[in-house]
Amino acid sequence: MERTLSIIKPDGVRKNIIGEVVRRFEKNGLKVAAMKMAELSKKEAEGFYAVHSARPFFGSLTEFMTSGPVVLMVLEGDNAIAKNRELMGATDPAKAAEGTIRKDFADSIESNIVHGSDGPDTAKFEISYFFSETEIVR
Ligand code: CMP
Repeated sequence: MERTLSIIKPDGVRKNIIGEVVRRFEKNGLKVAAMKMAELSKKEAEGFYAVHSARPFFGSLTEFMTSGPVVLMVLEGDNAIAKNRELMGATDPAKAAEGTIRKDFADSIESNIVHGSDGPDTAKFEISYFFSETEIVR
């Protein structure tokens, strides 16, 4: 059993596909163990993506992530990290496989609908960035 952090980004919320994204997770064996909506502050977005702070797209990415509400989720299941990444598809929708969330709905490498943790250490950091243990069901 593994946990991962998923974010439905502002573009996903704007496109009214929260239900569709969650449906894909649930249909593929992932359970929602925590869920809330939030409007990230610039500081929160910058802290979350601190690992990308030197990248040229950092300013634009944090602007985008604060452009509207997001849905924050803890997903749980066997190989949840890899499973979530498989369902999302490649970061760049142009390179994402058929049937993935990003291939089906994303407009660009930045506005790519969803975020998912990329490994166990990242998942731990990212889950604790937005959720306390008492907010996650067992
Ligand atoms: P995400 O999986 O949330 O991780 C970092 C995010 O930065 C990524 O999805 C994209 O939204 C964004 N990103 C990654 N690479 C680029 C890029 N080359 N240009 C713009 N945004 C990017």
